[in-house]
Amino acid sequence: MQDKNRFIKIDFKNSDDQIQLNKNKIIHVLFFTEKNIIISKGMDNHVDLSKFLKSFLINNSSNNIVVRSEKGSFFLVKRKAEDTKLNDDYLERLGGKIYNSIKALGYSEALIYEDNCNINQRIALGILLSSYKFSNYKKIKQTEENFLNSIIFKCKDSEKNLSLFNEIKGIAQGVYSARDLVWQPPNILFPLSFADECTKLRNIGIKVTVYDESQIKEMGMEALLAVGRGSRKDSRVVVMEWMGGEKNSSPLAFIGKGVCFDSGGLSLKPPKSMEDMKWDMGGAATVTGLIEAVALSKVKFNVMGVLGLVENMPDGDAQRPGDVVSSVSGQTIEVLNTDAEGRLVLADILSWTEKKYKPQFLIDLATLTGAMIVALGNVRAGLFSNNKNLSEAIFKAGETSGEKVWEMPLDDEYDQLIKTEIADMKNIGGPGAGSITAACFLKRHVEKTPWAHLDIAGVTWKNKSSPTIPYGGVGWGVKMLYQLIKDHKEI
Ligand code: BES
Ligand code: ZN
Ligand code: ZN
Repeated sequence: MQDKNRFIKIDFKNSDDQIQLNKNKIIHVLFFTEKNIIISKGMDNHVDLSKFLKSFLINNSSNNIVVRSEKGSFFLVKRKAEDTKLNDDYLERLGGKIYNSIKALGYSEALIYEDNCNINQRIALGILLSSYKFSNYKKIKQTEENFLNSIIFKCKDSEKNLSLFNEIKGIAQGVYSARDLVWQPPNILFPLSFADECTKLRNIGIKVTVYDESQIKEMGMEALLAVGRGSRKDSRVVVMEWMGGEKNSSPLAFIGKGVCFDSGGLSLKPPKSMEDMKWDMGGAATVTGLIEAVALSKVKFNVMGVLGLVENMPDGDAQRPGDVVSSVSGQTIEVLNTDAEGRLVLADILSWTEKKYKPQFLIDLATLTGAMIVALGNVRAGLFSNNKNLSEAIFKAGETSGEKVWEMPLDDEYDQLIKTEIADMKNIGGPGAGSITAACFLKRHVEKTPWAHLDIAGVTWKNKSSPTIPYGGVGWGVKMLYQLIKDHKEI
């Protein structure tokens, strides 16, 4: 659906490598802190130059400065500290800001002077993420012109940087794919075409299995199929497996809500709320991007992704409020609101994955409730878990990567709110605590495996861009979960 390799050109050169420069088109990027200009090995005549540039930093200027002189153009970028204290998120955002500024200034090439490999890598990731663009459906030529096409890091060890950069590109590719999927319109991306996108990942060593409706029925997923009944489009379940770990070690499992369009079903949404519902497959998009990143970087764990792909529509055969359906867990559900469909899909996928694969943990991602946006806005995702170690690990990965979460409670009193007379549970709670009752519903479909649920309704789509996230699909969670996997210690 999208051509790969659409990254801006980024390269790493040693201090003494000769680079052909076009003086008028290039800008040199240097960093300074409260105390000083940071001198890297790659700066020629650095004593002279730093003295010259220093004269522009009056009173340790608090802002970035552009210097245009006969010595060339320089961009002095303020940074909090020289080295180790800077976290990944800070550096990526710095990279994003550098990219956006240079683009706005109209230069076509940039040379960034920095010797620390980790700093370079994170700045490079920030640049890749901020230069993402989805323009598949723009046929009329855009007036906006972007000249910036090449960024070179002048550094101490270009070879080490280049090999580390492979991993960064893998992560960025995962985020790009997740964003692309979120952006795609629902007439193009529906369960079948989504599953087709997943099968392309076979090219990079991922085992992909796609289950059709008759197979899904045999698997006992009555709740998932009930959601898809109101749509002309068939439902699909996709399993993606990356076997980078020991043959017999159990996998880390990630589960994605893949409602390719959520009209609400017979409990139809009002038009305004429906406008956003092409991205109700954001969880599935993140899981797909994550598995791609894991495979591209050849991570040494067994990691799997399971997607429940459906479309929630209101035709004559749609499920009705009042229907009672059963689930893989054997428990029955009264469907009182057909718009609370995500939990029906996830319930079946969660118990099926737990029973069949016995994973070390289960993490599901879902644009599950509007109430999550009321609670946490567009800043943090909601985290719900039955396991302290897992929730702490996720929280930590969130703080480092900048894809932050906040833990929400799962007290038994909330769980009581989904009791009903006719079945084992109903698919909605009372008027309050909508995100928590939804999570309680999911919890009932996991038996004993450490499990976490991430409600990403508020963070999947951004209407306002930030340094590393342009307007639109975010690909939220790819970076954070990649970090979580890398930090994982086998139990
Ligand atoms: N997909 C929606 C949740 C959603 C809303 C995601 C806004 C992103 C932005 C979900 O399927 C839904 O409709 N949930 C209902 C649940 C209610 C009927 C209990 C909701 O949040 O209103
Ligand atoms: Zn819904
Ligand atoms: Zn939904």
